[in-house]
Amino acid sequence: MAGKSQAEKKQEIGVGAGSTVVEVNPKPQKGLTSKLIDYLEKLIVKLMYDTSQSHHYLSGNFAPVPDETPPVKDLPVKGYLPDCLNGEFVRVGPNPKLVPVAGYHWFDGDGMIHGMRIKDGKAAYVRRFVRTSRLKQEEFFGGAKFMKVGDLKGLFGLLMVYMQMLRAKTKVLDMSYGNGTGNTNLIYHHGKLLALQEADKPYVVKVMEDGDLQTIGLLDYEKRLKHSFTAHPKVDPFTGEMFTFGYSHEPPYVTYRVISKDGVMHDPVPITISEPIMMHDFAITENYAIFMDLPLYFRPKEMVKEKKLIFTFDATKKARFGVLPRYAKDDLLIKWFELPNCFIFHNANAWEEEDEIVLITCRVQNPDLDMVSGDVKEKLENFTNELYEMRFNMKSGVASQKKLSEAAVDFTRVNESYTGRKQRYVYGTILDSIAKVTGVVKFDLHAEPEPGKGKIEVGGNVKGIFDLGPGRFGSEAVFVPSKPGTTSEEDDGYLIFFAHDESTGKSSVNVIDAKTMSADPVAVVELPHRVPYGFHAFFVSEEQLQEQAKL
Ligand SMILES: [Fe+2]
Repeated sequence: MAGKSQAEKKQEIGVGAGSTVVEVNPKPQKGLTSKLIDYLEKLIVKLMYDTSQSHHYLSGNFAPVPDETPPVKDLPVKGYLPDCLNGEFVRVGPNPKLVPVAGYHWFDGDGMIHGMRIKDGKAAYVRRFVRTSRLKQEEFFGGAKFMKVGDLKGLFGLLMVYMQMLRAKTKVLDMSYGNGTGNTNLIYHHGKLLALQEADKPYVVKVMEDGDLQTIGLLDYEKRLKHSFTAHPKVDPFTGEMFTFGYSHEPPYVTYRVISKDGVMHDPVPITISEPIMMHDFAITENYAIFMDLPLYFRPKEMVKEKKLIFTFDATKKARFGVLPRYAKDDLLIKWFELPNCFIFHNANAWEEEDEIVLITCRVQNPDLDMVSGDVKEKLENFTNELYEMRFNMKSGVASQKKLSEAAVDFTRVNESYTGRKQRYVYGTILDSIAKVTGVVKFDLHAEPEPGKGKIEVGGNVKGIFDLGPGRFGSEAVFVPSKPGTTSEEDDGYLIFFAHDESTGKSSVNVIDAKTMSADPVAVVELPHRVPYGFHAFFVSEEQLQEQAKL
């Protein structure tokens, strides 16, 4: 075909070294081919998929909200919103716009951001989709067309992979801008708020003065980014650099990248591991990057043979942790450590202590991604997700670990002025099942855990619990310092999070005092709309909001 290629036609907007935002303008194609593939897919679903099974993660307060909402201003505030909360609190989560053709996994939904703009004690609520290439194309067709994790099971899963390949090959779907959802996490770097999902590139979402959220495109770092980009990059608060990686089912299975303060992406550093895995998070210290080679393998053959999900946990394999000097140009200097097998979704933080690297993390004993797919039990049994301290001695090569909490805790956050540096307090969410947050907990790493407790209770290293109460469930709580930096006390600040009351159907934003963990919230802002349960949250400070407004 004559003329410019699809990639060349990508219109680039924005200016600045290493920061050009690529406008996402996919060109899917309707027509006979598209219809034939739809028909084939329907036939496969009819013959092979049990449509009678319910979708737990599409019901109750997991159910998506149907539409976006422009900023709703002057919401009633009980209590007060301190000045340090001027900015916008944002939380992203899966919110499928189009009905799935068959299975649905909680990871599958289109990213929707719920935001609360706070200015001078006043609050406004907004929700907007992350306008990904995937969402734009499914809107164009008026139906779900992209492959879902929830379908990737058994022979059916393989056939659904073929459907996606067929749609890509025949150009029914335009894959030139990736196929992610932007549904997992939000981070701010180099003047931009990024919506992230680990199978795709970062999407740039502009926060408007009134709090509205506008997807303006994606980042490929001047075409230097060719692989996926984790949902959990780390920004070093002292250098302003961002450290990230992507994982793939083809070699190199993991690629590490450093992005300068000015948004320039350095050369790729392939990290050698033996098999493709899911690597959701990593960590940095002042001088190192820590990679987690955990045995949650990408095994399509087992998916077909054993009717498993495409990512399966192998409990016979050790957990491996690789520590690499963080500006290394290759992985020759990486040191690998072994610990008993586990999976980890999220780390809290890491730092250096004499010869050791310390990693504070949420260790999962029995991971099963099938837990958050399809029809599940309301309460999960034997789900151990505990806070751990892991130590890797760079001189002796010895690794050790110590349990710091009972189950189940995840979505751990710290005062991010201390990312990669030794710190004291960890804030996490208490989970009564994998997805429902019953409270917010504060750990003191200077105190020892109290032995013999069957659940997370105040005492020992648990300094406080904010219990949401019966029928109320929360979301990841973000620490917002009273003053930025490390000059004031580390826990001088607030925790902010979304909550939902299942008995009234009402949602709210809650602000609590991180220092006291008082049961009396500092502020509760009742929201005019339901906010479904979701994934990660971020606080865009007023300073960041003004900086990114220049985009
Ligand atoms: Fe995550």
